Amino acid sequence: MAEVTFLPRNKTIKVKPGTSLLDTSKRARVVIPARCGGNAACLMCKVKVDDSTTLLPLTQSEKTKLSQEQVSDNIRLACQAKVFNKKVIVTIPESPLNKAIQAQFHKDNKDDF
Ligand code: FES
Repeated sequence: MAEVTFLPRNKTIKVKPGTSLLDTSKRARVVIPARCGGNAACLMCKVKVDDSTTLLPLTQSEKTKLSQEQVSDNIRLACQAKVFNKKVIVTIPESPLNKAIQAQFHKDNKDDF
């Protein structure tokens, strides 16, 4: 079994090697945005892995859809990338909407003082 940790929620789950990161996130009840049913079309499921060797190599879809810079930064498509090694650490980028809500929340609270 492989151990996958999703950040920033710091949620860890064990899955069989070969499981996609998107399926793993569903089992861990961690949300990764996905609109295309895992068909490498929406590109909303981008995540960052600490070590790309903990996943199986890039799929053809990832090679086509991700830029060289993204690949160098260990960005992967969660619906395509499959778990390979024992410990996988995945960071899910914060959604722009969540960021905006947090910024507004902090601004509102600051105004109270
Ligand atoms: S779920 Fe749409 S590209 Fe991965």
